[in-house]
Amino acid sequence: MTAPWWREGVVHEVYVRSFSDGTGDGVGDLPGLRARLPYLRDLGVDAIWVTPFYPSADHDAGYDVIDHRAVDPRLGTLDDLDAVVADAHALGLRVMVDLVLNHVSSEHPWFRAAAEAGPGSAERARFHVRPGRDGGALPPTGWPSIFGGSAWEPFGDGEWYLHLFDVHQPDLNHDHPDVRADAERTLRFWLDRGVDGVRFDAAGGLTKDPAYPELPDGWQPGHASPYSDLDGVHDHYRRFAKVLSEYDGDRVGVAEVWGEPHVIGPYVRPDELQQAFAIDPLFRPLDATLWRRLLAEQLDAVVRHGRLPAWAHGNHDVKRAATRWGEDGARAVLLLMLALPGCVYLYAGDELALPEVDLPDEAITDPTYRRSGGTDRGRDGARVPLPWTTGPAPYGFAPDGTPTWLPQPDGWGTHAVERQEADPDSMLALTRRAIRLRDELWRGAGDEVTWLESLPAGWLGFRRGAATCVTRFGAGPDPDLGGLGEVLLTGGASDGSATWWLRGDRPGTTTDEEAGWDRR
Ligand code: NOJ
Repeated sequence: MTAPWWREGVVHEVYVRSFSDGTGDGVGDLPGLRARLPYLRDLGVDAIWVTPFYPSADHDAGYDVIDHRAVDPRLGTLDDLDAVVADAHALGLRVMVDLVLNHVSSEHPWFRAAAEAGPGSAERARFHVRPGRDGGALPPTGWPSIFGGSAWEPFGDGEWYLHLFDVHQPDLNHDHPDVRADAERTLRFWLDRGVDGVRFDAAGGLTKDPAYPELPDGWQPGHASPYSDLDGVHDHYRRFAKVLSEYDGDRVGVAEVWGEPHVIGPYVRPDELQQAFAIDPLFRPLDATLWRRLLAEQLDAVVRHGRLPAWAHGNHDVKRAATRWGEDGARAVLLLMLALPGCVYLYAGDELALPEVDLPDEAITDPTYRRSGGTDRGRDGARVPLPWTTGPAPYGFAPDGTPTWLPQPDGWGTHAVERQEADPDSMLALTRRAIRLRDELWRGAGDEVTWLESLPAGWLGFRRGAATCVTRFGAGPDPDLGGLGEVLLTGGASDGSATWWLRGDRPGTTTDEEAGWDRR
């Protein structure tokens, strides 16, 4: 039996508002995506994950959903979505959609009704609503919003509602039968339309401690909390997994969880989802000893459940990889992740090594900027519309002369697809080569990773199947890799981190001595 496509696939995250504008309003959309599907086929990825395209009040770039079973008219129609799925399938690409079940938009009919219905009403029971302290004047608890400030907002009548994200994103109460039924209906709606998988946004938040306890003294973001990754949340994923299993064709569910391996492991137990993001390494410095431990822990946490990691190379919530790790680092980490057992999620534009953009204050739309009082510049710098042509602006993203929803900086065309397609040394060329070679070298090579011991300090290497992956973290001299086999691909450059892929002459038998490694 062949393994399902997602087990060791490569998924490209299409941030739909910034990918390609087919309608000329400066915002990326489904017709724009559809027209660019051949580019994604040529990239060699297995699937695309399309970020939210549902009707939204745009307080969090589409993650504030007004109607989860419809398409925002600014981004297309349901027919456009069906056409994207059909064309993608014809090109051999799978399509995953993004389900935002933790919260809705404050313009969702349920929340409008809750606001109107008043304290104690049945309409409010679909949300997390509590009386304020001090006769309603103060928030029920000191819980912070992930975007800054309090996680509670007053209705103005003594009751407050919970919003773990922006004030325009009230959290749904998934203990309520209406909320559960609606979530399942949404899941089935998209699966029935033929999508191949689902990303569960803010997956850990669906269950809150009904006692709404105060956070302990000294609590910091990232610590365990009464609103994240509680045991009860897994009941939801068991239910969703059952629904996914009713559909044919290797459908996949991936949990968007941000946490250490012990937090993400339980989401991929045999009766839960197929994947949970391995995001933690994104925030760690490129250090060989640290990364060896991180990678081994990520593997261990999911392989014990018969699953493989879903490595995140980047996404729309973090700094661009080429800025976070430097361009050499971004190349090296991509090759490292592609060589490991598991699925790799690559963020659109990172295959062009786009840098993070420092946007002018007045252009920033991300609610984190406002809610943090301007101390956090937010995530828009990683969401600037892609450059397809060398210029002028909007660089092929939209029809000539169209201003884009986030401004593209001068010189954006130096990173354009058009330019990189003509340059064999570009990040785009490397990404295409690597994805193809990965299929040959690593896919199906099993979950066994044999770490090469006694590499020089700052190096990390492993054998997997018949090939070897060696990474140098940071600058340093290139070693003589001859003893490990023939070098097939290098990602990175001699003035920074680099990864080498080698095919061994005698698979699995080369020792460090034979390879000529210096002992520490
Ligand atoms: C995670 C999404 O990736 C992020 O962009 C969004 O702001 C939050 N969830 C809230 O939906």
